[in-house]
Amino acid sequence: ADPLASHGHDPPANATRRLPDIIIIGVRKGGTRALIEMLSLHTDVVAAQSEVHFFDWDSHYRRGAEWYVSQMPYARPGQLTVEKTPAYFTSARVPERVLQMKPDVRLLLIVREPTERLLSDYTQVFHNRLEKRKRQQTLETLLMRGGELNLDYKALNRSLYHVHMRHWLDAFPRSRIHLVDGDALIRNPLAEMKKVEEFLHLEPQINGSNFYFNQTRGFFCLRDRRRERCLHGSKGRKHPRVAPEVLRKLYDFFHEPNRKFFELVGRTFDWK
Ligand code: A3P
Repeated sequence: ADPLASHGHDPPANATRRLPDIIIIGVRKGGTRALIEMLSLHTDVVAAQSEVHFFDWDSHYRRGAEWYVSQMPYARPGQLTVEKTPAYFTSARVPERVLQMKPDVRLLLIVREPTERLLSDYTQVFHNRLEKRKRQQTLETLLMRGGELNLDYKALNRSLYHVHMRHWLDAFPRSRIHLVDGDALIRNPLAEMKKVEEFLHLEPQINGSNFYFNQTRGFFCLRDRRRERCLHGSKGRKHPRVAPEVLRKLYDFFHEPNRKFFELVGRTFDWK
């Protein structure tokens, strides 16, 4: 036996890896990292550390349930396991696959005002390309084609929430999907997290002392019995300045898709 094997890496007694009880399905740049970190403040929740991409990447999906479970953290009896992969929301083949694997899963979707989300999405891609020293395209080039909005631009498509939501509601009842307001989560995380606790039937535990506002970051950071922490510096980046007429075009454009989304989910959001 490896004498080092028992040092520090043993699972807690009774703990096992299991299929997730909860999946945060997206949306990309909606605040998915903040949500999973805040949910982990609860002692009855354990979260997978990285994005698993099981249902959307065929190379992972082919490996089957056993591989998926092996990606999950150890959970004690009574604890809930959660993973987040924001790409699930916009991948049409995912809802059916999730249903097959775990019919009683509970789903969390965090959405944000669609134009703001698009700008955040663009900013992320811009940074990734910078790091890989790839050629940049300006937001205006990606967004506009011959004076009209370019509907093929992926970041724009990902903000068409009703298109993607339809696929999920074909597979799951509305009552199984809880919507988190990503703009509200930034301003007042506690109120949004209390609703999440309730949806998941968790014992009320998350409270005001779990959050403190960090002036330098301009965001709330997290505190539990063990430590204080802010999200990684890649969360809460400055967005590019966009010409007012382009912004106007975006707000106008999203008006109708937003209305369809509100109708579909039976609630509204305070969006422009
Ligand atoms: P920006 O970087 O555009 O501001 P995701 O984790 O899904 O990629 O979402 C990232 C977004 O989470 C950030 O987008 C940020 O606005 C938002 N966010 C919400 N709560 C936050 C918090 N407490 N700290 C940092 N970012 C937070």
